[in-house]
Formats: sequence, C-alpha cells, structure tokens
Amino acid sequence: MIIARSVSELRAVLDTTKGSVGFVPTMGALHIGHRTLIEAARKNNEYVVVSIFINPTQFLPGEDLSKYPRREEADFKICELSGVDILFYPDTDMMYGKDEVSILAPDVRGYILEGASRPGHFDGVLTVVMKLFNIVRPTRAYFGKKDAQQLALITQMAENFFMNVEIIPMDTVRESDGLALSSRNVYLNTVERQEALKLSAALKKATKMVMQGNLVSEEIKRAMEEILTPLDVEYVAVVNRRFESLAQVVIGDTIVLVAARVGTTRLIDNMWM
Ligand code: PAF
Repeated sequence: MIIARSVSELRAVLDTTKGSVGFVPTMGALHIGHRTLIEAARKNNEYVVVSIFINPTQFLPGEDLSKYPRREEADFKICELSGVDILFYPDTDMMYGKDEVSILAPDVRGYILEGASRPGHFDGVLTVVMKLFNIVRPTRAYFGKKDAQQLALITQMAENFFMNVEIIPMDTVRESDGLALSSRNVYLNTVERQEALKLSAALKKATKMVMQGNLVSEEIKRAMEEILTPLDVEYVAVVNRRFESLAQVVIGDTIVLVAARVGTTRLIDNMWM
C-alpha cells in the first residue's frame, strides 16, 4: 500500500495506473462499516483509494474536532489488510489555503434536519468531497447510508456539477444488538452504550408499524419518541429519498431518521423503507 501525503504524490501514483478507481473518503477511526465500503470498492474496481482526513470545515465551533478519535496506526493497518492500493493522508494545509472558494449546500436539503442542527456542516462536507473528487478523480465513490442526508447531498452535487463519478450507497453496518457503527461510538461509556440502543429500537418499532400496515408518519414518530425517552432527541423525521417530509410512509421511497444525544455524544441513525 502506498501512502500519499500530498496531492502531487497521489497524482504521481495515479498517473501510472490504468483502470477504474474505487474511492472511500473517511475521517479515520475506521470500523467494520468502513471496511464494508473498502471491500465493495475492492470488488468492483482495479484500484482502491482511501482518504483519511479529519475535515475541519465540517465541524461547528464547539463540536468535537479536537477530540475526534485519531487512530493513525490502526487505520493504516486496516487499510493495508483490506487491500487498499493508495491511502491519501493529507494535512489541513495541503487541503486548504488561506482564502478559499467554498461549496454551499442547497437550502432545501442542506439546511433541514442535520443541516438545521449543524448549520454549515454540509457546506464543509461538500467542499471537502469536491476537493477529494478532483484530486482522486474516482470512477466510483462509496458512502454509507447511515449518513443519509450527506449521501443525498453528495449525489446531488455530483449531478449538479456534472461530475464523472458514480456514487454508490452502502447499507449501514450494525453491532449484533442493533447499534449502528459510528466512529463516535467510542465516546460512549457502558451505561450510555446501552442507552444508545434506543435509537435502533425506535427504528425497529417504526419498521414493525409499517409492516403491520400503519403508514401514518405522525403516529410512527410518536411511537419512536416514546421509545427514545428520556434521551435528548434532536429530531425524528419521515422523509422520501429527496428529503421531502412525508405524511405517510411510501414503501420503497422512505427514510425514517433520528438524531439524539446520549450523554454528550450526538448520534444519528435511520432506516430505509
Ligand atoms: O462521512 C464522513 O466521514 C465525512 O463526512 C466525509 C465524507 C469523509 C467528508 O469529510
């Protein structure tokens, strides 16, 4: 595995390759969810590039940028063992200059739900993903469905900017008890880890209601909020794939989402129906 710390190093390697490039952008602290993305990229492309970059522009003041888990050695090992060809590992000065053009998330999808709770977050995500796509020029890029709104916005950006990349959505990976894998799970203590199961339990309840024929969003949300009590819930939402609010679940075109704080840790999860 080649580790490239600068754009020119990465380009020098990529320029010698021929064939499709599968790209998995990450902020490190890699877990099995990331490995699933890497495995899919490995299976369907000649080359696999992973980036590890904790992007400062997607953190709001007061968020966990300084304490975001950093696992350089373990991450490098995971990439190597997963068959990554090139690891792009830039620092902030490599990725950002002093006076930057930035990409703004669209109002309709970028400033609701996650975007309302974390205003400006998606501007930072889209800006860095645009930079990374321009640097790596991937054939396919792999993103988890757990960050459903991020996935929708990146897909929209690729379309709006006529970018020559296929965005591949990948299912959320869960622990055996239902907790969605997230780099932020490491912040949870034992009691909080147990409390965090309320998110997947609420989504399980939503699935059960839908399977039993109750498609009314308000009733589903109320049942979910009961299960989520006493967590500090930021939102429970029922939207379609374009992130428009739905009064009723439409099977095949619905995402049920939840964001809540467990202690000081903010967690999100969702279920695609
Ligand atoms: O999902 C993430 O880890 C980040 O938002 C991403 C896409 C790597 C951009 O920094």
